[in-house]
Amino acid sequence: MEVCKILHMNYGDGDKGYAKNSLLQQKVISMAWPIIKETVEDFCNTLNIPITTLSMADLGCSSGSNTLMIISNLIKLIQLHNNKPTQYQIFFNDLPSNDFNAIFRSLPNLLEDLKSQIGDNFIGNNCFFNGVSGSFYGRLFPNKSLHFVHSSYSLHWLSQVPQGMEIINKGNIFIDSTSPKNVIKGYYKQFQKDFSLFLKCRGEEIVTGGRMVFTILGRTDEYPPNTDYYCYDIKFMNLILNNMVTEGLIKEEKVDQFNIPKFRPSPEEVKVEILKEGSFMINCVQVSRIDWNFYNNGEFDGLLSNNNVCGEVDSSYYFAKCIRSVYEPLLIFYFEEAIVDELFQRYSKIIKDEMSNNKYEYINLTVSLTKI
Ligand SMILES: C[S@@+](CC[C@H](N)C(=O)[O-])C[C@H]1O[C@@H](n2cnc3c(N)ncnc32)[C@H](O)[C@@H]1O
Repeated sequence: MEVCKILHMNYGDGDKGYAKNSLLQQKVISMAWPIIKETVEDFCNTLNIPITTLSMADLGCSSGSNTLMIISNLIKLIQLHNNKPTQYQIFFNDLPSNDFNAIFRSLPNLLEDLKSQIGDNFIGNNCFFNGVSGSFYGRLFPNKSLHFVHSSYSLHWLSQVPQGMEIINKGNIFIDSTSPKNVIKGYYKQFQKDFSLFLKCRGEEIVTGGRMVFTILGRTDEYPPNTDYYCYDIKFMNLILNNMVTEGLIKEEKVDQFNIPKFRPSPEEVKVEILKEGSFMINCVQVSRIDWNFYNNGEFDGLLSNNNVCGEVDSSYYFAKCIRSVYEPLLIFYFEEAIVDELFQRYSKIIKDEMSNNKYEYINLTVSLTKI
């Protein structure tokens, strides 16, 4: 499966679009902000001479407000600094199927917001925005052309499903407790190959002393991962697909052939690859957790107009929609649209049930690096 030709999040501003269903990813970016802020401030403080044009990129930006939020916050932060640049070059990167036009349509609002918040000393026409279509598992920018790179919830996607999974991982769509050991090995090897290539490419593109901060889904246990707890969000999807096979709605071979190209590494697995590849110094690797029930903490009330029962936000409703906005295009590529619709009807029910009885959370790894 060539992920780079297929993968994108659900398009548009509609009810199923990623733009309307990515509050979880927004929350993750705000949780990582203290590390991003510290990294960028440190970069500005260590500059011997001010930079004229500061170049930064958001890799795996998708569309919607999250990428605009991080870029806007970065510019506001850097503008506070004595060594502030006179111009900004901003790059939005994602795979070719991404809805870059939606980002471009939002740029006038972003500039207006920046002007109103930064004031007279900010001249909007000194910001140059670019869309860069292509896989971050390859070169995207000229040598030593970037000062800062950000990426959130993107780098856990692999460049491809590890080879042979359709044969050795039958009945599973990801690493599962019933997967043989060489499934985990295959996924881990693919992660090592992809991640070291990512580091090598960014190592060539980022200036010496430049910084990179990325957040990915990860895990806390060491290799081999405890498959009982590895990925409940995908486990529930797998369960439904297998039920649909039993009911004769999907052919068994279809599920056997489908595997999700993702990996959730441990902090140690990330550190080992960074040290082995050698382009970057590690500033920090921070582990954080986000409860799937976070929608209910009051922070997002104004944005959650639907489905409030007696003042209680039903987090499961929003969580299931978030997962749909991420996986639906990939699933539709393999299964019929009607099947995928049925799958997500069942998914909302199972998530509601599970979340009312158990606590689930994602583990995030935020990594801050300096180019050597
Ligand atoms: C869950 S979205 C995250 C979007 C945004 N960063 C946010 O936090 O809301 C993951 C994005 O990563 C992109 N992506 C996955 N693999 C990629 C690759 N190899 N190169 C560039 N983008 C990739 C996907 O297309 C998708 O838009």
